[in-house]
Amino acid sequence: MTDTTTILAETRARIADAPDVEALRAIEREVVGKDGVVASLLKSIPGLPPEERKGAGQSANELKQAVLAAIEEREASLGSAALEAERRADGFDGTLPPPRVERGTLHPVTQVTRELEDLFTSMGYMVLDGPEVELDDYNFEKLNIPADHPARDTQDTFYCSSPGSSASLLLRTHTSPVQVRAMERLEPPFRAIVPGKVFRQETTDASHEHTFHQMEGLVIDRNVSVGHLIGAMKTLLRGIFKKEIEVRLRPGYFPFVEPGFELDARCPFCTDGCSVCKRTTWIELLPCGLVHPNVLKAGGLDPEEWGGFAFGLGLSRLVMLRYGIDDVRHLLGGDLRFLDQF
Ligand code: PHE
Repeated sequence: MTDTTTILAETRARIADAPDVEALRAIEREVVGKDGVVASLLKSIPGLPPEERKGAGQSANELKQAVLAAIEEREASLGSAALEAERRADGFDGTLPPPRVERGTLHPVTQVTRELEDLFTSMGYMVLDGPEVELDDYNFEKLNIPADHPARDTQDTFYCSSPGSSASLLLRTHTSPVQVRAMERLEPPFRAIVPGKVFRQETTDASHEHTFHQMEGLVIDRNVSVGHLIGAMKTLLRGIFKKEIEVRLRPGYFPFVEPGFELDARCPFCTDGCSVCKRTTWIELLPCGLVHPNVLKAGGLDPEEWGGFAFGLGLSRLVMLRYGIDDVRHLLGGDLRFLDQF
């Protein structure tokens, strides 16, 4: 029987000389293949004297492992030589790492919107959408804000016209018009949130921007009270700030709710006053109230039978609170150095 040490030495020499991967594959077949040298060594074992069998099996296996290792090593060095050759040929350098693929991130407003959508859908709310270019009728009139109502002054916007139509169009100043659109289309009772972009004709500064985000909430049902509204708002705050937050209601005036409130939340960032709450320990968080009977009527509902509550969450403001952003203009400024941080 041929000594496995000799076979290994010879095979190693041939491997070292192999010019390419095909030559290596041929040696591999010849030595460790199905009908190769190692296989015939193993096949001859039963014919050996019993005391030699174990040793013969062992050395055949060792030969196989050693040959495979040598082939692998040579293959690796042939591979890098091939890359080396390629680099010389056309300037392509296969040894360099691949170009970095820039990964984007979701905009902070999108992140908070999705989080709130998850929270509200888990409480049975639908997520609705509405037009950003809205009819004056829905943005104001049907929300109990007639043409000469002073509340219009606080929500100046961008007006536009549509060729061939006398309809009075504008960029919506709030997500509230979707309240009426929802009532017109959905069978009560229902609950919905409406996240979206809104627009105002404003002189911009750190806390005013011509385009920002709101999230409207609307619940239509029988026998809805302010208690339901407070309960829903506390759940909302618990979802956002991950802890129990004390709230207080102050009277607030919005023509489409009655009674209307400004809801303040106990500052989630301090206990005795900080810059976020301007040392008051309260932050003004969201306007809300019970849906005005005139709005229910505008939506085709009978105010004797149906009632509801609505709230208008300032999404942009909430995002700023959450991430400690001090200027609303960063949000839509499009500066990647800002956006990369989220
Ligand atoms: N739409 C109002 C605004 O933008 C906010 C609001 C919504 C108030 C719902 C009450 C109820 O100012």
